[in-house]
Amino acid sequence: MDIQSIKNRFGIIGNAPALNHALNVAAQVANTDLSVLIVGESGVGKEAFSQIIHALSARKHNPFIAVNCGAIPEGTIDSELFGHEKGAFTGAVDSRKGYFETVNGGTIFLDEIGEMPLGTQARLLRVLEAGEFIRVGSSKVQKTDVRVIAATNKELLEFTQNGKFREDLYYRLSTVPIRVPSLRDRKEDIPLLFRKFAVDFAERYKTPPVQLDDEARNLLVSYSWPGNVRELKNIAEQISVLSTDKQVGANELRKFLPVEKVTSRLPMVIGNGSHGGTHEFSNEREILYKLFFDMKKDVTELKKMFVEIMQNPGEAAAAAAYTKESLLREYPSPVELQQPANVLPPTYLPQVSSPQPAVIMPHEEIHEHEEVEESLNIMDKEKELIVKALKKHKGKRKDAATDLGISERTLYRKLKEYDIND
Ligand SMILES: Nc1ncnc2c1ncn2[C@@H]1O[C@H](COP(=O)(O)OP(=O)(O)O)[C@@H](O)[C@H]1O
Ligand SMILES: [Mg+2]
Repeated sequence: MDIQSIKNRFGIIGNAPALNHALNVAAQVANTDLSVLIVGESGVGKEAFSQIIHALSARKHNPFIAVNCGAIPEGTIDSELFGHEKGAFTGAVDSRKGYFETVNGGTIFLDEIGEMPLGTQARLLRVLEAGEFIRVGSSKVQKTDVRVIAATNKELLEFTQNGKFREDLYYRLSTVPIRVPSLRDRKEDIPLLFRKFAVDFAERYKTPPVQLDDEARNLLVSYSWPGNVRELKNIAEQISVLSTDKQVGANELRKFLPVEKVTSRLPMVIGNGSHGGTHEFSNEREILYKLFFDMKKDVTELKKMFVEIMQNPGEAAAAAAYTKESLLREYPSPVELQQPANVLPPTYLPQVSSPQPAVIMPHEEIHEHEEVEESLNIMDKEKELIVKALKKHKGKRKDAATDLGISERTLYRKLKEYDIND
């Protein structure tokens, strides 16, 4: 299959030589069973590449699963990937198959491979070298035939030098490395990508697509795009939603760009006097809300709970001591989190707190005393709601999370944080 038809089939936009080269390598390696290491910054399309490789391989009718190694707690990753036996550890009430068992015949995409614990790396190496694995708590060696595609946005070779990553595994994985270029290194593709996302959006919502004038296009191209294609897509969609004028100039575009550049990731200050019209003001408010959604859907959820508590100021909170850190942990930065489909029962979740990059929310600044009171309430209420939802859905996390309006991943984190065993 030639490059252009791959692009058409998978909706890949761009014509930069480095991108074409990466696609070429992907197409060539797809039909082998070789491990592939995809290297590139966040949002460049690493996962998209892994899907292309799988879809072009002989395994295409077999399962493909993406696992984010950085999103699974160290204590559960072995069990997630390789399964465990009943009684393997406290709370392992049943045996469970891991992904290397269930995906047999297919492809596993191991994202953020650099975050994989050393012990897990040893197990992975065994799979790659001998096609063998052992469930946690078992002594029985099992066979599996899984193709591994790994991805990293870190320099893995450096990790091997300071002992964070096994050198033998590194070389095993990087037989065929694919480097997906950053957007700032293929600026010629930026207008094409923007156009695609604007058109996609317009088709979805049956509106005319937004268009940039020359000055706006130059601004778009000169921006550094730290979040790469993902960021560009977000911004194209924001502009599509919020711009009343479909002809977007540089001044209008500028309203959307600087926000992403602010290091604290805080939205811009609104109502600073430079905007007269109420229309513009409400427009910026909308942008703000949209950004909040992007940063963390939980904010909405917390707001809802807030209202609930205000209307129903029940019993005061008891145990949980509120700390600023715990609130900060609630607002990790908008990294992509992929929770694999079935998560482990919480009973054997280790009591580790996954250090998440924090985002400081503006309302933290306001009256500390009130804040402490209410936060205690929120945490209590939240815990209560979670327990209720789990009960209602007989411990089924997926359903409980849907009911709560949060992601499974968030529920997972909260269970751990509140030490809830269902
Ligand atoms: N060249 C491209 N053309 C069109 N869309 C792309 C391209 N590269 C990435 N995307 C889109 O950008 C988003 C982020 O890509 P993803 O593969 O998740 O990045 P990564 O895994 O590197 O963080 C996805 O929605 C993906 O479909
Ligand atoms: Mg990704």
